[in-house]
Amino acid sequence: MPPDTDEVLELLTVEIERELDVIAVRQRGRDVAVALGLDAQDQVRIATALSEVGREVLAMGGASIVFALIGSVPPALVITLTTEAAVPQPRDATQVEGVLAARRLLDEVTFESLSLGARLRLVKWLPGHFRLPTAGQVKQLRRTLEGPSAVTPMSELRTQNSEMMAALDELQSKQDELLRLNAELEETNRGVLAMYSQLSDELEETNRGVVALYAELDEKSAQLKQANEAKSRFLANVSHELRTPINSILGLARLLDDAPDEPLSGEQVKQVTFIRSNANDLLALVNQLLDLAKAESGRLEPVLTEVRLEDVFAQVRGSLRPLAARGAVDLLVEDPVDVRPLYTDEGMLLHILRNLLTNALKFTERGHVRLSARSRESGQYVGLTVEDTGIGIAEADQVRAFEEFFQVAGPLQAKAHGTGLGLPYARRLAELLGGSLTLSSVPGEGSTFTLELPITWNAAMAASQSQPAVVPTGISVGTVLVVDDDESFRHVLRSMLQGAAERVLEAADGVDALRQMQESVPDVIFLDLRMPALDGHGVLKAMADDPRLQRVPVVVVSSYDLPADTCSTLPPTAVTLTKSGLTRERVLSVVAGLAGEGADG
Ligand SMILES: Nc1ncnc2c1ncn2[C@@H]1O[C@H](COP(=O)(O)OP(=O)(O)OP(=O)(O)O)[C@@H](O)[C@H]1O
Ligand SMILES: [Mg+2]
Repeated sequence: MPPDTDEVLELLTVEIERELDVIAVRQRGRDVAVALGLDAQDQVRIATALSEVGREVLAMGGASIVFALIGSVPPALVITLTTEAAVPQPRDATQVEGVLAARRLLDEVTFESLSLGARLRLVKWLPGHFRLPTAGQVKQLRRTLEGPSAVTPMSELRTQNSEMMAALDELQSKQDELLRLNAELEETNRGVLAMYSQLSDELEETNRGVVALYAELDEKSAQLKQANEAKSRFLANVSHELRTPINSILGLARLLDDAPDEPLSGEQVKQVTFIRSNANDLLALVNQLLDLAKAESGRLEPVLTEVRLEDVFAQVRGSLRPLAARGAVDLLVEDPVDVRPLYTDEGMLLHILRNLLTNALKFTERGHVRLSARSRESGQYVGLTVEDTGIGIAEADQVRAFEEFFQVAGPLQAKAHGTGLGLPYARRLAELLGGSLTLSSVPGEGSTFTLELPITWNAAMAASQSQPAVVPTGISVGTVLVVDDDESFRHVLRSMLQGAAERVLEAADGVDALRQMQESVPDVIFLDLRMPALDGHGVLKAMADDPRLQRVPVVVVSSYDLPADTCSTLPPTAVTLTKSGLTRERVLSVVAGLAGEGADG
């Protein structure tokens, strides 16, 4: 509300006493607004507010109304309605319908109770550029306003109607606008929906592609796995087929050497020695292939025992000294530093170290080859390194050196023995033992191979078992039946059994073996598993079904270490022997064990 100190220019005073006065006051309000140059909207606002409060003050008993201009900032038109009638209590004037309407239409509406009656002030702020009229202009204004209103009640009614129509029109156009907006919104929605469905179609399409890709990938890796398994199977089969004749050659050569009644001439001894050494090389190669195939197919199981590195190093030193003694290379085997005994497969560990050391000695012409060990990672691991000052391996070949049959071309390679199976096999063994084998090398300076092994390999601890060796003594057994399709191997066994067995019978296949056993029950039978007609498994089954043959002790002889799943199908009393490295002692000790068992049982 403008402060009291502001200039006040009264324009007009009117009274509301009758119904008709309400319309007149409304007209007057519009007249004042027109005279002050307010726009059509403000004219309607003022006229409507006055007719609303006019109805209320008439209901209270009438009032006098003063229109005035106030020189506040900004200037304002103030309309004061004063009633002397007693305002019915407790009526809250600010909640009166007409007053509420006026509040919505004007800038300020205040209500004040007087000792006699009440006063209502309606304020409409005038635009900032509004200039208060001069005294002369005020006089002129008063004259205009005091004269008869330019608007008759009839025309006021018409104006009101047309205002209503305009308002209705405006409402209609607002509604139309709303409808249009709604339609637009719907259109947009449809667009968004279409885009969404297109996107989800595309996504689905992509998904289908990915799924197909994965299926293809799965298929490819299955194929790869199959191919790899086929390779391992092929290696195993070929090696197995090769080992049989090689073992026979070795056995025969040994017999030639051992024959006391027909000693060989000097030249013959030399030739037999060559035969043996070549056959041994061949056997070593075939064994390597077979080992690799086994390691790949997961059939190689470490036999864990407590292993002292000092012992392992001593063995290595002993077996490699002859190799190292050849040239200007020192083989240095250092004492292990701070290493507890390992729990691992000693044979495999020795194999890895021998592979690495023979390589180092092969590819080093001068300087040294050093084997050392120290504990790592707070004693959980041991790092064994084989370091040489040899030709080294170029960076590009370092990964490939661990591939089967890969050899780096070079002058030393021609002189060196080998097939390129040592490193891949050594790495497989390292992994089987829960460790790793890595290489770092600088061509021309040397190479360092590092074998890292866990001190204790938990995964296979349970599998650990070591068998004490049995030493044979004076043995005598009755009839031994040797069943093998390989004639030369039958011959080898017959010779080894000489002196220990009363009689050695031979059968070339399972059918023949069973026929002979029906004629007379042998005391021990040596049985090959792979044979034409009826194989070893067939023979074992027939024996198990025949009460007379059930208790005959069986030695299963095979060219390779039998996989666990085959072993589990053999009778529990069966003993297994591998053909490679078979000695008379080994055969006799097995026979002694079985004959004793047979006698006891
Ligand atoms: N210490 C080394 N220094 C230099 N080259 C090496 C060394 N060790 C291995 N190599 C290279 O890696 C190749 C593969 O070694 P790996 O032991 O697998 O096969 P190999 O020794 O040739 O034959 P195998 O071990 O089957 O008798 C070797 O032929 C040689 O070229
Ligand atoms: Mg090698």
